[in-house]
Amino acid sequence: MTKGCTKIYFFIFLLTISSELLAQRSSRERINIDTDWRFALGHAADPVQDFNFKVANIFSKTGKAEDTPISPKFNDSTWRQLDLPHDWVVELPFENVDNFDLMAHGYRPVGGLFPENSVGWYRRNIELTKADSGRRLAVTFDGVFRDAMVWINGFYLGNNESGYMGVTYDITDYVNFDGNNTLVVRVDATQAEGWFYEGAGIYRHVWLQKYDNLHIAEGGQFVYAEVKENVAKIFIETTVENQTLGNASGQVSAFITDRDGKKMGSAKSVEVTLALNGQTTVKQEIVLTDPRLWSLEDPYLYRVTSQVSNGSTILDHLTTRFGVRTILIDDKKGLSINGKFIKVQGVNCHQDHAGVGSALPDYLQYYRIQLLKEMGVNAYRASHNPPTPELLEACDSLGMLVLDETRLLNSSPEHMDQFERLIKRDRNYPSVFLWCIGNEEGYVQTTSVGKRLALTMLAKQRELDPTRTSTYAADLANVFKGINEVIPVRGFNYREKGMVPYHNDHPTQPVIGTEMGSTVTTRGIYEVDSVKGYVPDQDITHPWWASLAEDWWPIAADNDWLLGGFVWTGFDYRGEPTPFQWPNINSHFGIMDVCGFPKNIYYYYQSWWTDKDVLHISPHWNWAGKEGEIIDVWVNSNADEVELFLNGKTLGKKVMPRNSHLQWQVAYEPGSLKAIATKNGRTYEAVMETTGEAHQIVLTPDRNIVTADGKDATVVNVTVLDNRGREVPTANHLVAFSLEGDASIIGVGNGDPSSHEPDKMDVGDYRRSLFNGKCQMILQAGNDPGKVMVNATSAGLKSATVSIQLVKTNNNLLGKR
Ligand code: GAL
Repeated sequence: MTKGCTKIYFFIFLLTISSELLAQRSSRERINIDTDWRFALGHAADPVQDFNFKVANIFSKTGKAEDTPISPKFNDSTWRQLDLPHDWVVELPFENVDNFDLMAHGYRPVGGLFPENSVGWYRRNIELTKADSGRRLAVTFDGVFRDAMVWINGFYLGNNESGYMGVTYDITDYVNFDGNNTLVVRVDATQAEGWFYEGAGIYRHVWLQKYDNLHIAEGGQFVYAEVKENVAKIFIETTVENQTLGNASGQVSAFITDRDGKKMGSAKSVEVTLALNGQTTVKQEIVLTDPRLWSLEDPYLYRVTSQVSNGSTILDHLTTRFGVRTILIDDKKGLSINGKFIKVQGVNCHQDHAGVGSALPDYLQYYRIQLLKEMGVNAYRASHNPPTPELLEACDSLGMLVLDETRLLNSSPEHMDQFERLIKRDRNYPSVFLWCIGNEEGYVQTTSVGKRLALTMLAKQRELDPTRTSTYAADLANVFKGINEVIPVRGFNYREKGMVPYHNDHPTQPVIGTEMGSTVTTRGIYEVDSVKGYVPDQDITHPWWASLAEDWWPIAADNDWLLGGFVWTGFDYRGEPTPFQWPNINSHFGIMDVCGFPKNIYYYYQSWWTDKDVLHISPHWNWAGKEGEIIDVWVNSNADEVELFLNGKTLGKKVMPRNSHLQWQVAYEPGSLKAIATKNGRTYEAVMETTGEAHQIVLTPDRNIVTADGKDATVVNVTVLDNRGREVPTANHLVAFSLEGDASIIGVGNGDPSSHEPDKMDVGDYRRSLFNGKCQMILQAGNDPGKVMVNATSAGLKSATVSIQLVKTNNNLLGKR
């Protein structure tokens, strides 16, 4: 390390906690238990409507559960039957109540003012057999919003406060091995955790795990690599735990395969002898010569297996996908992956999507990450909470860096435990390049309390994951006080003009933009409408604390020491309807709307974040009644020069300024606007035409082949064309959907931030208005292979039908590799 130059090296690689199931009865099994739950709303204020909870004295004796749904004898046959993931808030109608939190959460009536909608009960049977006896059994919840109390067979297992961090409970001592077992969860979403839509319910997966009494501990596998030239040393740390009720011994071994299962190396097995309730961590090394590195362009994943055996019997094993890669954060040159310096072209995202709220089928994680990649995004900030593991699996599989964030800056036992669970869960994913210990903690960020909280959390991070470092998202300009004094990578939320002075004053502290830009735009809208709550779809409007795309990106592009930044936000999300309130129910910050339809600013970022030939004209050219009026035409492109033509007449050629855009003032006449771009001597063109009336519906499924597993899904995007086949950008028709075949519609959306149409409807009733020419339907597969016909109709329009094939396959069709 040279003097005056801070270099933080990480030899990373890691992985996804995707355990592959071995068939042996004695080895680990991880079984998804998302199906066949019963659900009912309880009540946060009325004990009777909350099924006697709070009046039944359930804690006086262990297993006491009478007269509540906690009891295995409770009759839940009138409760609703559903499969997870489930978010009950997205099913509620909007309510306009003057309350900050309600507005910030998207005007869905949940929280302290709405006790009738704030408690949800879930029940499920788990069937076991005598063959399970003698093993350890555990249930894992990937995420429940929030304050979940969990019981099995009437016995209390615990309370997971976090709405984002998952939890595992050992259920071995309580279960019946010859039949039914009742798992019960009471979810209490009365308190919020954020200031954005959070949903409520068991909105991530639930797993039943079975493993030996001598086993790998929860979070007890840590894989990382050190790469020198063409040799990677893979370090595998396996923590083994003895719950046999006596002393136990065994052998711990590890091996690596490539993604096709070919063995690439193995480590000598190590003998372990553990006392009663003992734990030990075995450290092993495997060398890979000429490893195929994990990168954004080629996100190659190996598999590492840790195994605990007793002689020839495998007692436990855990297989994790991992990537071999290096990360270096340099205070002068920024971020390098595998020795190549790259700029962080990032976006912040919350976790909800159109139609489904926060209960996303895994498919949507891949859909969203793929959309971001096409735009040129290379990094995702999981603001402001631990993401679902499937999001990280998608980022590992598709090649996207992740800034992984804990919910709260706090060193209390509860929050340190959440932070510890987060790091142990996520430290093997190669996509995770940096931790974030908090966001805009205004009560403490410049105080000595803030500094102490940060130091305690940073020490925990280094203890559990010495291969990475952390940032903190500060809404402070050139301020070096409190948390900023001790944070290894200084994060800026907005205030980008403070970055250069800050860097000049603290040149050895790397800097990253944790929230940048923050233009507010409504897709396809070109005038402020304060009644409907719309803002123009151009890079011109931002809240006072933030700035435009063209304010921050040139600073990042021009300064090597600046790692880059994360735009606020990649997609619109429910809640935070800045700069308006009701009737707005979702944010306008997205580069794409809640469905993932691009707004015009998408093309600004795509121009400067990719090498694609971008040439995009806005606005649309349907301005009947505005003939002769001046229209502000924007062209986004990364060409050298662009010439614009209206109905064949040139409006002039202009040089494209780097990291900016071009504008022409054009007197409207219907017809066609054409842009001809020149780049390195080549030309290409884009055309925007005045269209006729809408004539026919077009359905565009993202995928035509979907797995028939009851979980897989596809987005079906809807547009309308005029009678010459041109998309009509102003159409707002109501489109009704129907299906034939084994599939269901799980939600609809259109990106209109003021739409109060429902996202969820009764089967058979699904319909949604187009918003500026587009809407979206999300279809989920059933279990029967075959054809599903999707039909869409609208009064006065030619209807559309597409077919989607449901197939039985063991191949992962999502792109998980
Ligand atoms: C930031 C905050 C984000 C979001 C954003 C809206 O201050 O960290 O969560 O609220 O403002 O502009």
